[in-house]
Amino acid sequence: MKAFHFLLLLALAFSFASAFDPSHLQDFCVAISDPRNAAFVNGKFCKNPNLAVAGDFSFSGLNIPGNTANRVGSNVTLVNVDVLPGLNTLGISLARLDYAPNGGLNPPHIHPRGTEILVVVEGTLHVGFVTSNPNRFISKVLYTGDVFVFPIGLIHFQFNIAKTKAVAFAGLSSQNPGVITMADAIFGPDLPINPDVLAKAFQLDKDVVEKLQKLLENA
Ligand SMILES: *[C@@H]1O[C@H](CO)[C@@H](O)[C@H](O)[C@H]1NC(C)=O
Repeated sequence: MKAFHFLLLLALAFSFASAFDPSHLQDFCVAISDPRNAAFVNGKFCKNPNLAVAGDFSFSGLNIPGNTANRVGSNVTLVNVDVLPGLNTLGISLARLDYAPNGGLNPPHIHPRGTEILVVVEGTLHVGFVTSNPNRFISKVLYTGDVFVFPIGLIHFQFNIAKTKAVAFAGLSSQNPGVITMADAIFGPDLPINPDVLAKAFQLDKDVVEKLQKLLENA
């Protein structure tokens, strides 16, 4: 019985040890660009806390839709540490997402540093993510008020399948979650990846690869 309890305790300890939350070293750390008289913490310098003001912790304009007249028909307005310096070291950020009617797409992408929790405030979105190998596709159609989580580091997208526009907001578990848009990262770099590499990897004809590279270059 004792051994059983010990094993149970061990299992519990390991299950807790595998979960994590960002922890910070002070109440807040307002980011400043001038490093004089500042301490270096987690990538950005901190403002002297005595000089922090409400403006350091606020941002306005998320009521304004982003312009979706672009090749994918979506627009992401990101409120991260670069525009809201009070987020520094706090492990959180926010985005507004606008989708054009009839197929507005936030194309397959990864946030290398953040899990995303998304709520649809208007419209209908087909959303999904793909797990690590062996790949499983997990997807759902979301309506107004529905919430979906995209785990950190996994390829995911949102697609407007309705005839009306869609709007969503998302919280991300990093002050600077980062984004890697698959198509642009693979076919779009200024210094392109060798077309032979991409032709083989994606089992495409080389001229299709070169066409994609031309299309997505600097996009
Ligand atoms: C997103 O919307 C903003 C505000 O209308 C605009 O300045 C920006 O160019 C848009 N981005 C894209 C990728 O269309």
